[in-house]
Amino acid sequence: ADTLGAAAAGQGRYFGAAVAANHLGEAQYVATLDREFTSVTAENEMKWDALEPSRGSFSFSRADQIFDHAKSRGMDVRGHTLVWHSQLPGWVSGLGASDLRSAMNNHITQVMTHYKGEIHSWDVVNEAFQDGNSGARRSSPFQDKLGNGFIEEAFRTARAADPDAKLCYNDYNTDGVNAKSNAVYTMVRDFKSRGVPIDCVGFQSHFNPNSPVPSDYRANLQRFADLGVDVQITELDIEGSGQAQATDYGNVVRACLAVTRCTGITVWGIPDKYSWRSSGTPLLFDDNYNKKPAYDAVLSALGGT
Ligand code: G3I
Repeated sequence: ADTLGAAAAGQGRYFGAAVAANHLGEAQYVATLDREFTSVTAENEMKWDALEPSRGSFSFSRADQIFDHAKSRGMDVRGHTLVWHSQLPGWVSGLGASDLRSAMNNHITQVMTHYKGEIHSWDVVNEAFQDGNSGARRSSPFQDKLGNGFIEEAFRTARAADPDAKLCYNDYNTDGVNAKSNAVYTMVRDFKSRGVPIDCVGFQSHFNPNSPVPSDYRANLQRFADLGVDVQITELDIEGSGQAQATDYGNVVRACLAVTRCTGITVWGIPDKYSWRSSGTPLLFDDNYNKKPAYDAVLSALGGT
């Protein structure tokens, strides 16, 4: 296999990219996307502010552009994300508890129904835990007004809306064993033991020199998988360049392949110039869509040439 997608498929995995609708008019962007990737995540277009800018009024056109592009080329689509404290339209934070509860459930239901049966995995709840050593929940309108139960409620609503979608909890700084990942682990274990519907945990995997690929990355993915959920690497990017970056990327891919239930990897963008990081070169393609050493390392770790 000589593409990321084909090599990953040979390992029974998908290989995805975050895509922004405003780049879909760029020929090289589309050519690289269509050649290399088997899964797509909308970088911003399926977030709450994009889909439901005012209460009860949904706008799917940008999201559908990405969705239709992917589907027409046989790619899978990851849904990102239904309930998140960020990129939340102003009207949501103004609601009282009971309105907020119905708005959350309605948002999940409307969005998942629009794509019913067509999204392989949904990030139902994103980034609900604090950084640092507390293991506590992050303050958000959902947490503050609905309490700890909002995550469970979101997952139950999601299962009812689209029983075929894998339902994921997704977060960052949970890639190694630490207080934050322990807190997520405890929640997932509790959900599994009580029959709360959860199918997967997403590990964003935004790495940089201050937050490098953890040495216990594989072990952490494995302990979650052992709870009976799939694990997915959902937003991979690694600050750096040259051989050091390539080695890191290869290590991430090998960690996923070593965990049977690690079902796929998504990189958070295609060329460096479109990365959410304003500076740096964290992705697999340079600004001219040339393959970087990191690309070669990923392809080779996937068994491709
Ligand atoms: O669309 C508006 C545009 O109309 C406006 O003129 C412009 C001016 O700033 O802003 C545009 O919105 C920006 C949006 O990206 C689309 O480009 C926002 O300012 C900007 O904040 C937003 O950044 C996104 C970020 O999430 C917001 O939280 C990044 O593109 C996106 O890569 C990033 O993705 C997140 C994941 O969803 C969750 N995990 C972390 C990851 C990286 O931060």
